[in-house]
Amino acid sequence: MAEIPLAQPDISEQEIAGVAEVLRSTRLSQGPRLHEFEAALAERCACPGAVALSSGTAALDLCLQALDIGPGDEVITPSFTFVATVNAIVRRGATPVFVDICHDTMNLDCSDLARCVSDQTRAVIVVHLFGRPVAMDPVLEFCRAHNLHLIEDACEALGASSNGRPVGSIGDCGVFGFYPNKLITTGEGGAIVSRNLELLALCRALRNQGRTADGFLADRLGHNYRLAEPACALGVGQLARLDEFLARRSKAAARYHRLLEGLPGVSLPPRDCAHGRIAWFFYVLTLDAPQPRRDRLIAQMAGKGIELGDYFPPVHLLDFYRQRYPVLPGSLPVTENMAGRTIALPFFPAITAQQQVTVADELARILAGRG
Ligand SMILES: Cc1ncc(COP(=O)(O)O)c(C=O)c1O
Repeated sequence: MAEIPLAQPDISEQEIAGVAEVLRSTRLSQGPRLHEFEAALAERCACPGAVALSSGTAALDLCLQALDIGPGDEVITPSFTFVATVNAIVRRGATPVFVDICHDTMNLDCSDLARCVSDQTRAVIVVHLFGRPVAMDPVLEFCRAHNLHLIEDACEALGASSNGRPVGSIGDCGVFGFYPNKLITTGEGGAIVSRNLELLALCRALRNQGRTADGFLADRLGHNYRLAEPACALGVGQLARLDEFLARRSKAAARYHRLLEGLPGVSLPPRDCAHGRIAWFFYVLTLDAPQPRRDRLIAQMAGKGIELGDYFPPVHLLDFYRQRYPVLPGSLPVTENMAGRTIALPFFPAITAQQQVTVADELARILAGRG
């Protein structure tokens, strides 16, 4: 294992005790912890309800299904995201249409949406990448003008806000992920939030094989996307510490800024966000040099016990997508320019100042050819 890992969960003794208490009870699924976790999430996101699920992927699946998106429909989303965002569109039998990103924020470029829209477009999925909130007002305006659903993939951004509103609460629905590297974790897990009570009720039924209080949904295919009680208990404890995690992550980001400022050959992520609060999920640099140098750097740093991430290979360049959903050459210039040049540094709430100094020193040494 790397001496300085890329990510690391932070679980307190109190959270362990909370999980143990559930394990000693007889209620391991669909019990009080689920309701408690959902109520806390809803409150945090200023929504009337939340639906806790087995993963962020399950959350994306259910949002698309609940909005009745399927074969023949097109969904606009960035290629510069984790592949799960786009896989969910394809699993519905719909077609992903890739929008380009902005160079500095690495988030969707709203001015490129008009190029992507057609008579088949039904929805846009924005991704608040690396915890950086998308400026939602122009996206909302675009979706209203074209009568499109708006889904927020906020898997990496719990606690971020855009123009004063929590991410996830702004579009038709928002999704979160609770994998161990995320801003809070339940081991595996995810959730949907929405201001639309009907949509939430539908997602809640679809999570449980299509069951409602009155029976089964006759016209929908349900799933088992439930989140077990021990995971929900962990989620309750983690969510109570979200602000503490966010503060520690912000501090770690500021420290990387100070340590890396002026380092030749790399661009740092923007420190601030004019329209909202960043929930620092990853600290991602861009190298001036192309992919082979980046990959060599990752291997060299691994040799020093430091784990880096190659986040994210653009989805449209993965073989599955390249073959089935080819994009017009030159249509995603910024995404393709960034491809293979981004590096995520070790980043988690408990990272120490000394660990960050070690990362920065090794990075500088290797980039200067002294590795
Ligand atoms: C942007 C984004 N979308 C979706 C997901 C999928 O979440 P999960 O791994 O919980 O299925 C992730 C998780 O890594 C993600 O980062």
